[in-house]
Amino acid sequence: MKSIITGMAVAGLMVAGNAIAADMPPLAKKMNCTACHAIDKKIVGPAWMDVSKKYKGDAGAAERLQVKVSKGGSGNWGTMPMPANDAAGTKQAEIKELVAFVLGLAK
Ligand code: HEC
Repeated sequence: MKSIITGMAVAGLMVAGNAIAADMPPLAKKMNCTACHAIDKKIVGPAWMDVSKKYKGDAGAAERLQVKVSKGGSGNWGTMPMPANDAAGTKQAEIKELVAFVLGLAK
């Protein structure tokens, strides 16, 4: 019985994993991006999957988005501005990692 239940739980996880190709990384939660962003739906800011699709094949996107996420701004998705997430410039490594994660979503 126990093994059947375990098997069902594993199958359930696999189904969930397929439906949402990726979950928000712990760093995004820690940096509070999750207050406004999700992978697959718009909250305050655009879905990260949509961001990834928009910049697919754009070689300069990683650098531009790192600046944008750090300093904030609006205009690419609407008039709602994203606030600065690293005004002091002390979290560039984290922001770079998150931007790389976002851009890697659309395969
Ligand atoms: C208070 C809400 C809020 C928070 C917190 C927030 N964002 Fe945003 N984000 C937005 C909005 C609104 C936009 C759309 C800006 C625009 O239209 O150009 C956006 C846009 C973006 C974009 C696309 C930018 C572009 O120019 O296309 C990326 C990438 C992004 N956010 C990543 C992040 C990351 C990473 C974090 C956490 C470090 C974060 N956001 C935190 C609201 C937020």
